[in-house]
Amino acid sequence: MKLTAEQRTQFDREGYLFFPGLFTPEETRTMTDAVPALYSRREAFNVREKDSEAVRTNFAAHLYSEPFAKLARHPRMIEPVQELFGEALYMHQFKINGKMAFEGDVWQWHQDYGTWLNDDQMPTERAMNVAIFLDDVTPFNGPLMFIPGSHKKGVVEAKHDLTTTSYPLWTVDNALIAQLVERSGGKQGGIVSPTGPAGSMILFHSCLVHASGSNLSPWNRVSVYLSLCAVSNHIRRFKRPEFIAHRDFSPITCLPDDCLRNDYPVELPWQNGMPSNALATSSEPIASMREAA
Ligand code: SIN
Ligand code: MN
Repeated sequence: MKLTAEQRTQFDREGYLFFPGLFTPEETRTMTDAVPALYSRREAFNVREKDSEAVRTNFAAHLYSEPFAKLARHPRMIEPVQELFGEALYMHQFKINGKMAFEGDVWQWHQDYGTWLNDDQMPTERAMNVAIFLDDVTPFNGPLMFIPGSHKKGVVEAKHDLTTTSYPLWTVDNALIAQLVERSGGKQGGIVSPTGPAGSMILFHSCLVHASGSNLSPWNRVSVYLSLCAVSNHIRRFKRPEFIAHRDFSPITCLPDDCLRNDYPVELPWQNGMPSNALATSSEPIASMREAA
């Protein structure tokens, strides 16, 4: 899939592009149907909500689930990002966020690149988030909220929030959010929330400030997030486990566009469980880890 010149200009200005209904209901169902079995597994890669059994986020399914291994190589996501960066990509992070009916908790205001810099020492912001809705997203089930244009601020100040939810995040304080929203138009478009049918896709800049509220509705809001990083911009530290921040920097090779509808062989290296070194972490930069080894 190619971006038009207009889409590239819009991405530069707003920091995101929304593609409603990009995947057909049949393609989307191949993934949605696989989610309950993934969420039922008692593994470190399933992070549950605070005081709840509901899965907040499942990591790395592209390494052990066939439909997600195909999605991770889908040209509708990989090609436009590759084109924007002018370089091959590797998968920095792959997650399926639950935001389950009644139980899905908030994601505080943050920039993803803030976490990738602070925790993983990713050198620059040459990495992109791609969200794919597996359920319809409405104003009621905790849609993503963006502050358009906030990516132009680069990395903004953030604090490591270890308590609000079950998942640590580098978050932006309320005073700065209020300023950024005002700068983006205040009540006239200072916050936007792309909503649409299952199968929709959003590309968003790694410095775009975003959040989502809790899901008090009776409808799940399961979404997949691919974090695609330019190969030359790979992380320099393995402070987080490998199932959260990947260490395989090999370029992604796309499958054909019909890969979710037809059979294509994909490797599932973690199908029989995660290797134990996927849990190992180090606060040292990669170079000194290699010297020590
Ligand atoms: C995220 O920001 O990584 C997830 C937000 C959401 O799923 O609402
Ligand atoms: Mn995020």
